[in-house]
Amino acid sequence: MKIKGFLEDISGIKRITKARLEQIKNAPDGPIPEDPIRKIAEAWHPGELSLEVSEVRAAGEGAKLFRFRKPDGTKLPLFLPGQYLVLTAEPDGKPVSRPYSICSSPAEAYREDGFVEICIKKPRKDGFFADWVLRNLKAGDRVFAVIGCGQFTYEPLRDAPRMLGLAGGAGITPFVSMAREIAAGKAEFSLTILYGANSPEELILYPELEALAREAPEKLRVIPVIAETASLDSGSGSDTGPSSEKGGPEAPTGSEAAGDTGDFFFEKGFISAELIRKYLQDSDGNFPDTSLFICGPQAMYRYLGEELAKLSIPKRRIRFEVFGQAKNIAQFDGYPAHAIGKTFRMTVHRGIREDCIPARADESIAVSLERAGIRLETGCRSGECGFCRTKVLEGSFFVCPENDGRRAADRDFNYVHACAAYPLSDLAIRIPIA
Ligand code: FES
Repeated sequence: MKIKGFLEDISGIKRITKARLEQIKNAPDGPIPEDPIRKIAEAWHPGELSLEVSEVRAAGEGAKLFRFRKPDGTKLPLFLPGQYLVLTAEPDGKPVSRPYSICSSPAEAYREDGFVEICIKKPRKDGFFADWVLRNLKAGDRVFAVIGCGQFTYEPLRDAPRMLGLAGGAGITPFVSMAREIAAGKAEFSLTILYGANSPEELILYPELEALAREAPEKLRVIPVIAETASLDSGSGSDTGPSSEKGGPEAPTGSEAAGDTGDFFFEKGFISAELIRKYLQDSDGNFPDTSLFICGPQAMYRYLGEELAKLSIPKRRIRFEVFGQAKNIAQFDGYPAHAIGKTFRMTVHRGIREDCIPARADESIAVSLERAGIRLETGCRSGECGFCRTKVLEGSFFVCPENDGRRAADRDFNYVHACAAYPLSDLAIRIPIA
């Protein structure tokens, strides 16, 4: 850059202002012409959509696949394999939103009768919304959804074209979307999935994954890793399947040896460092450049963090999907004992409106708002996306250290992500009018 001199630089602003005023003066009186780029962007990323449930089908023990279409038959928005949608429905007449990984592929969304699918598995606990959806949602119902959120996607500028997926329980869903895209011949990457479950019965969507792997054997491989192998002594059990809300139920992750019951090949134990090393190798015993993509419950991430530390994999080659809200906030370091079991009062300011609602110490601010029927836009429910950013006007709170996505400025000006912040006293907050 050339520095012209103090006075000349200062006077530059005068020239710009003059040119702008000239343009304003000469602008046409009519409406601003449509911006074609904006039109395309809005068509691809239209925000919240009204969708119709077109099909519900069983997907394994305690799990269902839900297929959604646009009621007017128009095209669905763009998304990438591995992304999630935010589903909003109204159990008890109050709007509740939760993120679910999309398990269908973009190739299925953009065809003539395009659709998106999610798979929900009955959670072991904290399953208010998932339980309601599993019990009540049926073909013909309408829901709202934002499609195409999250960063758990293959990016050729960043990731190696050889991918090793580590999935625990419900964490298999984003990999199903990737597998479908591979089988459709649309993906640039190859994928090997180590799929951890307690038993073969818990391997949701496994029969479909097996079928997809047969369609693209050079690019897709799925290896079940079964923790409890007693049930396998009497034969194969590979007829199961679903995945669910991001970060769903607890699932095992650590390997003892391979097993084979008839046509069902599996690894025994958990997804350990030893097992990961085995599948990082190619058939010649070399270690080609590989990206690890990991999706599962919170406990699996802690376990895998320790296992991955034993391997010399560059950090840039390891990607974790966010895992949803913390299951038990009191377990985290720094959580004050005095708050356990308490319920506080939370004053919620929205424009000129003010509501006072109860806020349990063990529930996030976002959950308290939902219970009170107050809408707050949310996405990941993991402190990452910032959709739920909220100003705290008064009171103290605890932020889950594993879900703390606040920026420095948020901390300085007392903003929190409501999905990851928990009241420690009476609170006053300000949220946008939804
Ligand atoms: S919903 Fe994403 S940060 Fe809260």
